[in-house]
Amino acid sequence: MKRIFSGVQPSGNLTIGNYLGAIKQFVELQNEGDAFYCVVDLHALTVPQDPDELRKRSREIAQLYLACGVDPDKATIFLQSHVKEHAELGWLLQCVSYTGELNRMTQYKDKSEGKSAVHVGLYTYPVLMAADILLYDTTHVPVGDDQKQHIELTRDIAERFNGRYGDVLVIPEPQIQEFGARIMALDDPEKKMSKSAESEGSRIGILEPPERFRKKIMRAVTDAENEIRFDPEKKPGISNLLTIYSMFADVPVESLVERYAGQGYGTLKKDLVEVLEDKLGKIQQRFVQFDDQAELDNILRRGAEKARAVAEATLNRVKDAMGLVRFG
Ligand code: TYM
Repeated sequence: MKRIFSGVQPSGNLTIGNYLGAIKQFVELQNEGDAFYCVVDLHALTVPQDPDELRKRSREIAQLYLACGVDPDKATIFLQSHVKEHAELGWLLQCVSYTGELNRMTQYKDKSEGKSAVHVGLYTYPVLMAADILLYDTTHVPVGDDQKQHIELTRDIAERFNGRYGDVLVIPEPQIQEFGARIMALDDPEKKMSKSAESEGSRIGILEPPERFRKKIMRAVTDAENEIRFDPEKKPGISNLLTIYSMFADVPVESLVERYAGQGYGTLKKDLVEVLEDKLGKIQQRFVQFDDQAELDNILRRGAEKARAVAEATLNRVKDAMGLVRFG
């Protein structure tokens, strides 16, 4: 039986990159195993957050999971801060992690570059992520390509732990799609689409209305050739649009390339806007349907209870292995 775990940070408005790279997989995988989908609010605190905004966004991400099709009767949905074992295992794992390996994390390097003061939490972030995953004896971690290095670190930490203390932790596998694992920025297809990037024109939010995303698609950077071909290396802009189109419309890229042969980028862009209007429109409608905050809190409360039971058992195994005293 697969044990699936993944998380999303409530640190901005979720983009279609988050959806295609991660949440779409969450929905598919909930039928293949025992799935835990977390809103990683403790991770969001690694950069300054407005408290009211963070509270609002944390619930909003859970609501988006539901709107995108995560079913709380199949998967466990919860907030990271509601299961204190995450922070606790995070500490224990810090004691088997090396500064050298954290120094190598590219996301840390990017986020701390040029800053004179960097919080310790930003540095130890990947160890908390390892704790998230390892607490649930996770076998599969569905994520986008940018999280690959963090999952490799998780595996290294778990293997080191097991080497020192015995067979305690399950070694997880990243589940990264071959296609759509890295949706690129619309205004600069050399960069990843990100919910925290400064440029609004770089991304489309899952909850964004068509009048806003239409312009962004129509202005998306392509190339001067005006020939529709899938070639992420040489033609990153149009290849990115083809990827987004293919994944939302559920049509293979090759069929799209055939369909648009001899036509200009404008036609493809216009059709893509229509596809997005339809697909995002459906998610947005469902988002409104799940707006009952009391019901949402019930789902999160139940989720946290279920998660806690699993997390506590793993943490106890870890404590026993490390030599911490527990009363029987
Ligand atoms: P976060 O919140 O940045 O992103 C959530 C998920 O979306 C994926 N993603 C993308 N996929 C494709 N194209 C893109 N442009 C794109 N942008 C983001 C991310 O890869 C991710 O899967 N550290 C994690 C959160 C986390 C976590 C975990 C994930 C904390 N603990 C344990 C898995 C397991 C993060 O910051 O994701």
